[in-house]
Amino acid sequence: MEPKTDQYRHVAEYFKIAREEINSALERYAVFDSDCPKRLADAIRYSLLAPGKRLRPTLAFLAAELCGGERQDAIPVAVALESVHTYSLVHDDLPAMDDDDLRRGRPTNHIQFDEATAILVGDALQAFAFEMLGSAIEDSEIAQKCVFELARRIGASGMVGGQEDDVMWSATVTGSRGAFDVIGEALSCASDVGRDFATLEFLRKIHRRKTGALIVASLKLGAFTSRATSEQLSALERYGQALGQAFQITDDLLDAVGDDAALGKRVGKDAESGKLTYVSLYGVEVAKEYLQESVTSAQRALLENESLFGRARRDAYAVAVSLPDFLAKRER
Ligand code: IPE
Ligand code: IPE
Ligand code: MG
Ligand code: MG
Ligand code: MG
Repeated sequence: MEPKTDQYRHVAEYFKIAREEINSALERYAVFDSDCPKRLADAIRYSLLAPGKRLRPTLAFLAAELCGGERQDAIPVAVALESVHTYSLVHDDLPAMDDDDLRRGRPTNHIQFDEATAILVGDALQAFAFEMLGSAIEDSEIAQKCVFELARRIGASGMVGGQEDDVMWSATVTGSRGAFDVIGEALSCASDVGRDFATLEFLRKIHRRKTGALIVASLKLGAFTSRATSEQLSALERYGQALGQAFQITDDLLDAVGDDAALGKRVGKDAESGKLTYVSLYGVEVAKEYLQESVTSAQRALLENESLFGRARRDAYAVAVSLPDFLAKRER
């Protein structure tokens, strides 16, 4: 996913090293005993070990280091975060949701296995994430904070809530039978002139929950493992919120202008399924302006708080500052 210039070689290098460590931790921890049906274990490993970018675990490493700790201590949270993320992708691809057949360059889980197994893979991965936090974090106070934070961010008012609104919006647009009219509800309080603003607010709210929440959780869980201060945690939260917006806007842009082979997933799906995105609302050029605004505000969250992070680990700080723009320039 490296951008073409070598301006960000240090970020690309950080990702590469982190990805190798995460892949080997996933390989090591994602093993199941004989009570887990072999087909289910195979299907879990098929999606979890597939070549993803490992952004969320990498963010946990980065936050741990930014707050003065060691990435080794963040391995359990890294595995948990990638498990939750993979569960969200397996479910996101199901016919009842985005109905996709390609993910991480491979047939989606329900195509390779079957729908029932894919649903259960998601369920198992979610449980596995919490099992990791409970069993592999030695300090029980840190484990408890991680469990609570992750559960809150990915639940009904977080990632899952965002997915519900995302899916119901497109179901309403395409007139799917039985779809709840989420558009009517989102815009019900808006006057005619306020409709555009209300739509933008609703879009931001979807991005904040379906994508931003897990990104914020990744930073916070990583920071918890280093016993971060409340000032560090709130700066990281601000950074993560903006990074989440930027990450999803880029994902939406790539769906419009990227290509299947580079992305490892189908493009053009958002327009076809009536998704609410910056691209569908404003077009590619204006979406890029919103992207730049989010990139800048993520960077600002760190630059304005340099004294909280800058001292212990200059290298991690430099990576974190460059990361929003690096991710905005990605091709997959
Ligand atoms: C895709 O996430 C889903 C979104 C939240 C946009 P990634 O782009 O991080 O997917 P992988 O993990 O690299 O496959
Ligand atoms: C997915 O957003 C967000 C989550 C999985 C929580 P998208 O539906 O845009 O992700 P892709 O494009 O399928 O990866
Ligand atoms: Mg989706
Ligand atoms: Mg999708
Ligand atoms: Mg997408």
